[in-house]
Amino acid sequence: MPRYQNIVILTGAGLSAESGLATFRDKDGIWAKYDHSDVATPEGFARNPELVYEFYNMRRREGIKAEPNAAHQALATLQNKYDGNVHIVTQNIDNLHELAGASNVIHMHGEMAKAMCTHCEARSPWNENLSASLKCPECELIGGMRPNVVWFGEMPYRMDEIAAALASCDLFISIGTSGNVYPAAGFVAAATEVGAHTVELNLEPSDTASQFNDTHHGPATEVVPAYVGSLLKNCAVDA
Ligand code: APR
Repeated sequence: MPRYQNIVILTGAGLSAESGLATFRDKDGIWAKYDHSDVATPEGFARNPELVYEFYNMRRREGIKAEPNAAHQALATLQNKYDGNVHIVTQNIDNLHELAGASNVIHMHGEMAKAMCTHCEARSPWNENLSASLKCPECELIGGMRPNVVWFGEMPYRMDEIAAALASCDLFISIGTSGNVYPAAGFVAAATEVGAHTVELNLEPSDTASQFNDTHHGPATEVVPAYVGSLLKNCAVDA
């Protein structure tokens, strides 16, 4: 296995599944219970804000109870021990990467532990229930607080940083994502474009599995520590 200099890791809901957080498109997933246009679009929020507040309040409560699993721990170890750059880009709005010890995690779809004010656009740490009657900690206006989550039709966060990391990566690893949602589903093509080696670690082949040079299928808590171990062995560091 070659020594890589710039590793970009993309994670999705499958990474947090073994921490007890639901995925979206598995048979018993979130989108089997809710219509995403009702709870994950600006139009849905305008139509029925109470439904959207409760949807994220429920997910925030579950997120607070969840613990990082062995896959989150392995990725934090890789980032802290590997003698190269390791960028973690996640579609997940939980904070399990950070709780495992990862840093500078790029939450391209936002974070449920923050709320955004639609008046002043300030993002504030938020671990309580959100509602329409709350005051923004920054501008002190009432009624503008919404989940700091990127909804369908909105621009994902920190895309410039992600594009720059992909443009210089020599290893791209996609973990626990179905490859259904762009722009994240297009990252493997961008990495391939610059000659990176591409690896999918997922419970089963994703919709973009055929675009990867290498795939390892199984539960993230098995395939991720195994793959991280092989990378760290290669740079003579104990996992
Ligand atoms: N280990 C590894 N992979 C798993 C596990 C597991 N234990 N359990 C499920 N998976 C895989 C599934 O096989 C699937 O390919 O994780 C993937 C989850 O796919 P989705 O539910 O579509 O979640 P994700 O790809 O993160 O969705 C992307 O869509 O709805 C939007 O904003 C939402 O960020 C989300 C985006």
